[in-house]
This record gives sequence, structure tokens and C-alpha cells, in this order.
Amino acid sequence: MAVAYDRPPADFYRTPDWAIAAVLRRLTRLCAPSSVLEPCAGDGALLAPLRACWPSATIDAYDIEPRHPAVARPTWTDDTPQRYDLVITNPPFIAAEEILRYGISRLRAGGRIALLLRLGFLASQERRPLYRRHYPEFVFVLSERPSFRSGTTDATDYAWFVWREGRRARHGRIEHL
Ligand SMILES: C[S@@+](CC[C@H](N)C(=O)[O-])C[C@H]1O[C@@H](n2cnc3c(N)ncnc32)[C@H](O)[C@@H]1O
Repeated sequence: MAVAYDRPPADFYRTPDWAIAAVLRRLTRLCAPSSVLEPCAGDGALLAPLRACWPSATIDAYDIEPRHPAVARPTWTDDTPQRYDLVITNPPFIAAEEILRYGISRLRAGGRIALLLRLGFLASQERRPLYRRHYPEFVFVLSERPSFRSGTTDATDYAWFVWREGRRARHGRIEHL
């Protein structure tokens, strides 16, 4: 059967610099991580901005299809002991919830995970169990639609969703970036 869509291999879409800068401005007010994980790092778009914000932090970057020398193929297993203060990525859309659950499992107590997701991620019936257990602390809505491909945008709105490990509240804060 023919492939009915034209996604790039493994859903690689580089996050625009302005969308990274916008969330990092908020995150630098919220936390000062000493360890950061970018689990789907692609060509490393987040790495230099993360380094600029937290020069002494350890930054680990992985991707199933690494496109940058500082990005490695994932080698983790459920027994991997390393935990992080911050996990941040623009995950592949098709595996966003899986990456979220994986990222939460990699956080230190009180750590945060920030994911760039479609706003529609808030609204699915299927995700009710997820939201019962993990409610975002913040939803930072991008006021401008990001372009992931040569200047074009589609009709999809995005936000950086931020969860905090151990937080039990069933409400979160929405802000517009
Ligand atoms: C939307 S791109 C974002 C890349 C980068 N995080 C950025 O913000 O520019 C998603 C990335 O996830 C990677 N990816 C897809 N499935 C993955 C998996 N199971 N584990 C790790 N990386 C994965 C893809 O190769 C792709 O580079």
C-alpha cells in the first residue's frame, strides 16, 4: 500500500530558534538544572541554547537518527540509573505520549519535562488517564504558529507543555508566549 502522507523520516522537524528562546526565557525563571536530557534531539537545535542558559549543566542528547555529533543513539533501558532535572524536546508527534511517560520516568524528584506539542494534545479522550495522573504545571502557548518547513505554516497551534515530577495538582497555568 502506498504511504499516504509525506512526513520526513522519523518525524524530523527542526524547532525554530524563536520558539526555543521563548520557552527558555520562562524555564530559566523556573529552574536551574544541573542535568538536562534532550531525548529526541535531531540535529541539535536545542543544544546551544540550553548550554547558553545553563553553562555548567550536563546535557545528554539522543535521537534514533542522530544528525549532529553531540547526539547519540539511545542506549537506555528501564534500568538506566541516570536521572535529570530537566527533560526537554520537540518529540515526534506519533510518539509524544510515549516520550512524555519516558521523560517523566527519567526525572529527579521535582524535575521538569517540557515538550513542544500541538494544543490538541490537551483534548483527547484517550489521554484522560494520563491527565488524571500527570497534569501540566504550565501550558505556554505559542502566539505565533511555528513553521517547521521552509517558511510554511499549517493551521495547527502549538504550546510548550511543562510537567513537574511529583506534582499532584489537577490544574495548571496557561500563559501566552
Ligand atoms: C520533531 S523532531 C525534533 C528534533 C529536535 N528535538 C528539535 O527540536 O529540533 C523529532 C525527532 O525525534 C526523533 N525520534 C523519533 N522517534 C524517536 C524515538 N523513539 N526515540 C528518540 N528519538 C526519536 C526523530 O529522529 C526526530 O529527530
